Amino acid sequence: MNFYILTLFPDMVMQGLNTSIIGRAVERGCISIEAVDIRKYSEDKHFRVDDYPYGGGAGMVMQAAPVYRAYQDLKERIHKERIRVVYMTPQGSVLSQNMAQEFSKEEELVFLCGHYEGIDERVLELIVTDYLSIGDYVLTGGELPAMVTIDVISRLVPGVLSNAASAEFESFHDNLLEYPQYTRPEEYMGKRVPEVLLSGHHANIEKWRREQAIIRTLERRPDLFERANLTEKEQVFLEELKGKRKGMVEKEIH
Ligand code: ADE
Repeated sequence: MNFYILTLFPDMVMQGLNTSIIGRAVERGCISIEAVDIRKYSEDKHFRVDDYPYGGGAGMVMQAAPVYRAYQDLKERIHKERIRVVYMTPQGSVLSQNMAQEFSKEEELVFLCGHYEGIDERVLELIVTDYLSIGDYVLTGGELPAMVTIDVISRLVPGVLSNAASAEFESFHDNLLEYPQYTRPEEYMGKRVPEVLLSGHHANIEKWRREQAIIRTLERRPDLFERANLTEKEQVFLEELKGKRKGMVEKEIH
């Protein structure tokens, strides 16, 4: 999988993505990441890439021409008919694990990062295929959102994670949060590792983990249950939990 990032801050994205798991995946050739400096495509003698907004208003707008030239140059190199160009913007669809899964099927993905008050609409109309947000808040630019998105997608690319199972079983697999994890020592500050995890009884451990995932999801992200796949038994367990919680709240009130 090859990622390209059109940006005014190439160092920021390259430095951010060349460490840890993603950095190693690049070294091993599972993925490639290339930042394209939009400023290099300015034809202004001072390499300016922004200008005042037509109609007035605060801030500056990135000009269409340098962005378009950067894209054209890249497109000629990639040499593909259809390339997805993802514009990072708070006005986009909000990134989810399912969307990441869908993006991970592409061989090439181009990310376009805006700054200032945004990018001239005309170049967006010409080149952008997807408008993507990482959440309902406003950042100073699209670089961090592009890095977040590349991280989410990369870990779904075969070979990036050493243990294929770890990608599958984590938070959001099956739309449940992940169960709690423990490692040595068996006791820390008076808190013991749950006995079942020391038992070596795989079926009981599986059952306990699944229950913990349900408990955790109920406490932290109950909205996820709408899309979770629970067995009938698990559904009963969840209803019992809800009943217990209701009982506890009523006790507190009285
Ligand atoms: N640019 C600024 N804020 C953003 C956000 N929340 N998501 C994607 N791109 C952005």
